[in-house]
Amino acid sequence: MSQLHLFDLEPTFTERSVREVTFQGKMGLPIHRWYRLTPSFSPKLAWDIADYFKLSQRDLVLDPFSGVGTVSLCMKYRGIPSCSIEINPYLCFVSSVKTRTYRKIADIESCLTAFAEVFARRHSKLPRPHDAQAWLNENRDFIPPIHNAERWWSPGNLMQLVCLRRLALEFEADPEHRDLIRMGILGILVPVSNAKHNHVSLTFADKPLPTVDLRGILAKKLSQIVDDLQAVQNLPRAEATIHFGNSKHVASILPRRPKVSAVITSPPYPNRFSYARETRPHLFFFDFIADARAVGELETDAIGGTWGKATSVLAKRIEPGNSLIAQLISPYTDAINGSGELMANYVTKYFNDIFAHAGEVAKVCKKRCRLAYVIGNSKFYNQPLPSDEILAGIFEHHGFALERIDRMRKRQSKRGLHEAVVFMHRQ
Ligand SMILES: C[S@@+](CC[C@H](N)C(=O)[O-])C[C@H]1O[C@@H](n2cnc3c(N)ncnc32)[C@H](O)[C@@H]1O
Repeated sequence: MSQLHLFDLEPTFTERSVREVTFQGKMGLPIHRWYRLTPSFSPKLAWDIADYFKLSQRDLVLDPFSGVGTVSLCMKYRGIPSCSIEINPYLCFVSSVKTRTYRKIADIESCLTAFAEVFARRHSKLPRPHDAQAWLNENRDFIPPIHNAERWWSPGNLMQLVCLRRLALEFEADPEHRDLIRMGILGILVPVSNAKHNHVSLTFADKPLPTVDLRGILAKKLSQIVDDLQAVQNLPRAEATIHFGNSKHVASILPRRPKVSAVITSPPYPNRFSYARETRPHLFFFDFIADARAVGELETDAIGGTWGKATSVLAKRIEPGNSLIAQLISPYTDAINGSGELMANYVTKYFNDIFAHAGEVAKVCKKRCRLAYVIGNSKFYNQPLPSDEILAGIFEHHGFALERIDRMRKRQSKRGLHEAVVFMHRQ
């Protein structure tokens, strides 16, 4: 006999194309395209889940791992209220700026054009690229305090960026316009850097990028921002609230009412990707973070953090937080432990954190609610880790029933890896 399901099972989320799951589905879409975060998901996925859940303006959607605000942005322009949480201050800024409601686009256009013109005037006074290093030596105080900035940008590009940074810090404008200017600048930092998106994480190219003319690149980015705001002017819209915080404490971050009727989200996958590491140029460019120590703390507090200080935390033995976690993960961590204790500790910390998070989600959800968690599995020393099933087991403990797990697509990076959406509900 076929299994009885509580909800309509269509559409299926299996066999999806790369564009329907990953960041690639957003790079041609207004506002979504302002900044590329490779491990972020396709707006189409958020839309399809909203359809599947039959969400309306009476719902409240939570995304506790906002990233670049994909879920909130999609919900906003479908008229569905949402709230999101993000621990990384730069990504929180991106989510907030993208989901804000802007009026008087003509004023925004004048301000952004004026900024580009002032930059062009200052730019014309900069020395030629081969004198950039001497100029940088004289302007050391304005170089963003990222470790080894010269590795990120060749001298001619860094000189222009420093000039741009100085202007952005001094430029007087309405705070919302100023944020849009900063968003535009932050959106071009990687394209003009020596780093490349050849892998999930940024890597440095073999050859540094030669000097490019930042005036044109900036003007194009700022006009893209204006065009995109114009494109969404007549769409219906709902409130989207972005909170800066740690989703291990969801209940103390969100207001007590209204409660959440659906969760659509994607936590970090347990694959050692570091969001703090990936966003270092941006974190430091406009002082979203004070110093390297603070980056280490961010990484340690984040779920799945692994880089810098977080690695030393993982070097000490980490025990499963309770017997359920032990039961769910020990078949895998025991096998991983044979090859490396650090990785076994990493997996244990990851699921201890997911357990804390799930308990908090249970507090903020309505009695009846539906959940969609997008997550990828991993492999450690060739040992597969079924993250989707373990996550479902943890949420079941907190009172959510598993509806189904749809494995959406195979990942190309390694055999046996996939991304899944875990559908759960509470009745
Ligand atoms: C897979 S990404 C989410 C991408 C998002 N769905 C999008 O399309 O932009 C996971 C996000 O969770 C954030 N994060 C990690 N630990 C967190 C925590 N404890 N609380 C809140 N956010 C956290 C990371 O900084 C990252 O932005």
